[in-house]
Amino acid sequence: MNGKITVFGAGNVGGAVTRRLIERKLCKKVVLVDRSGSKAAGVALDILEASPIDLLEPVCIPMDDLEQTRDSEIVIITAGARRQEGMSRDDLVRVNADIVRDCVGKAVKYSPYAFFIIVSNPLNVMCHVAMRAGQIPRTRITGMAGILDSCRFAYFIAKELGVSVENVQAMVLGEHGEDMIPVPRYSTVAGVPLTELLPPEAIERLAARTREGGAEIISLMQTSAFYAPASAVIQMVAAVVMDKKKILPCAAQLSGEYGIEGAFLGVPVKLGANGIEDILPLELTDAELAALRRAADKGKALLALLGEPC
Ligand code: LAC
Repeated sequence: MNGKITVFGAGNVGGAVTRRLIERKLCKKVVLVDRSGSKAAGVALDILEASPIDLLEPVCIPMDDLEQTRDSEIVIITAGARRQEGMSRDDLVRVNADIVRDCVGKAVKYSPYAFFIIVSNPLNVMCHVAMRAGQIPRTRITGMAGILDSCRFAYFIAKELGVSVENVQAMVLGEHGEDMIPVPRYSTVAGVPLTELLPPEAIERLAARTREGGAEIISLMQTSAFYAPASAVIQMVAAVVMDKKKILPCAAQLSGEYGIEGAFLGVPVKLGANGIEDILPLELTDAELAALRRAADKGKALLALLGEPC
């Protein structure tokens, strides 16, 4: 392993991911690629100025100088237009599809065997677009959202019950959007299912807040979340780099699992050195399966809009 990771997009998420990769010492070299501009240069310089303390210097390069990304083991795509207040993630589909295709096309040229983590929205559709643009096998591409949504749910559960977040394991599957599926009976507090600890109305209130988690942040700070998304990416990177074989809710392309063919959806996957090493089957209720199918159909409709085969 050469320990090289490339991050496309030096916006808030890309900058935070780069910073955390360095802090956590998860790689030997991190290459931050951007279309340039003063914002990117500023983010890069800010991180570089911490290098006397952190020791690892990110290499920051513009989009037309990709030689330095060669043979990256992991490529993280955060590039894309940002969601503004009042927008859904789906409103970004056309503009971000072009950006993601461009980034992935360039990335695979230099790093054909990399593991890809997609962060750009709408997440599940962008995973599909990226997979096709780079002809990436499904074991080597995943999307970050299930962990973020599960973390939000876990945080809200911990606050509601007045317990440490360390005691909470939450599970959110499906779409990174209004059809996301918080699953209370697979969410536990010190091993006890949430359904035994809170009444259904309280659980639904926390689930609804989770579904609106991204919009809540945007309404507060007028820009999309980046600390928690970056932490979620870091958990995925750590699972791969350290071959943890960790089970995490991530976007994966389904091939018959959950009765769904072809769509990317958030499901529990086993992440290790070989990427997505397994997709775990869970018993879901009819309503949960229906939400998964709705999310798959929505994804297909967006792909059709883009003229992408699905
Ligand atoms: C959010 C963005 C990352 O949910 O989609 O905050």
